[in-house]
Amino acid sequence: MPADLYYSDYIDLDKILNSQHPKSFSSLEDGNDEMLFIIVHQVYELWFKQIIFELDLVRRIFIRGRINDNSDDMSRAVNKLKRIGKILELINQQVSVLETMTSLDFLEFRNLLLPASGFQSKQFRLIEAKLGLKMGQRYKREYYKHTRRGSLTEIDSREVDQAEGESTLKELIIEWLERMPFFDKEYWKDTKPKSGPEAGDRHKFWVDYRNAYETSLSKNETGRLMEFDKVFFEEGRGDVPPAAMRAALFITLYRNLPIFHMPFELLNSLSEIDELLSNWRYRHFMMVRRMIGLRVGTGGTSGAGYLEGTLSQHYAFREITEVATFLIERSKRPMLPTALTEKVSFNL
Ligand code: HEM
Repeated sequence: MPADLYYSDYIDLDKILNSQHPKSFSSLEDGNDEMLFIIVHQVYELWFKQIIFELDLVRRIFIRGRINDNSDDMSRAVNKLKRIGKILELINQQVSVLETMTSLDFLEFRNLLLPASGFQSKQFRLIEAKLGLKMGQRYKREYYKHTRRGSLTEIDSREVDQAEGESTLKELIIEWLERMPFFDKEYWKDTKPKSGPEAGDRHKFWVDYRNAYETSLSKNETGRLMEFDKVFFEEGRGDVPPAAMRAALFITLYRNLPIFHMPFELLNSLSEIDELLSNWRYRHFMMVRRMIGLRVGTGGTSGAGYLEGTLSQHYAFREITEVATFLIERSKRPMLPTALTEKVSFNL
């Protein structure tokens, strides 16, 4: 009969508990905050691993192609993204545990780390890449060259490049948004635009919506109308094409319709992840300023200055979040044709 499974074997506890090797002390009597420093980093990396696991699962759901917006798949994807949000909330709070270490305590062992740094966290880079942050969007790209001391190794860099080259969550979400069938002619054939003829290939819904948006703008915001045309009909925004931007706006506008509950939750979770990640960037940046002031980082970047730069630049879903710029009041929204509302209610 096989031996009973033992708790510590199941979770490989010995390996984890014997994986703290401080550089500044070997006996407990000489111990300092390096133990906390190592454990906090390890806990982060474990949570990063779980985030990557969930992200890959969500990506696989979307990679499989046609996803029914009310299917189990969609609610699983939303559930996993919300879980990632909860993990991010937790790891944001963990910053304050490390902040119980003072800057003088940190100096006890800081120089022994050189040139190691969180900058070299491959898992953090994988999360960013799998979400959809591209190298071209990064602040101070020169820091990422693997030949630079303090950057990722060549092997790790290659793995991050590969993740960036695979379908990122953002690309998959864009494809899904572009497939939205709600502007098919069959649903709209009996509707006329309230506000005039269709302009070129611009759908009648959008002719009405653009007019309603125009009336909603205050005098000092009239430039937004040109932006509206650019974002939803000409260029799109960032790397999100116009059709996907239109679908994101449409879902956000009509999220009260049953079929849009899940898609809206999905878009909302993406904005939430972006926000929580930037909260982490902010907390980490503030902690770094407290710990080392304006000194360069162990990883050789300018330190707090570099981190502050990433804070304003490193977002994956900025375009989706900024759809809010183009919303109007609920009561001013164009009415949808009956054929469409019937289609999107739960009587399918
Ligand atoms: C005393 C605490 C800490 C200090 C002083 C510190 C300092 C820094 C500095 C200066 C950088 C910029 C790169 C460099 O030149 O080294 C950096 C980057 C980074 N650190 Fe920390 N760090 C601390 C704790 C942590 C913790 C607990 C984590 C959790 C994993 C972490 C993860 C990262 C990551 C992921 C980056 C890259 C950020 C990016 O490029 O956007 N750091 N850190």
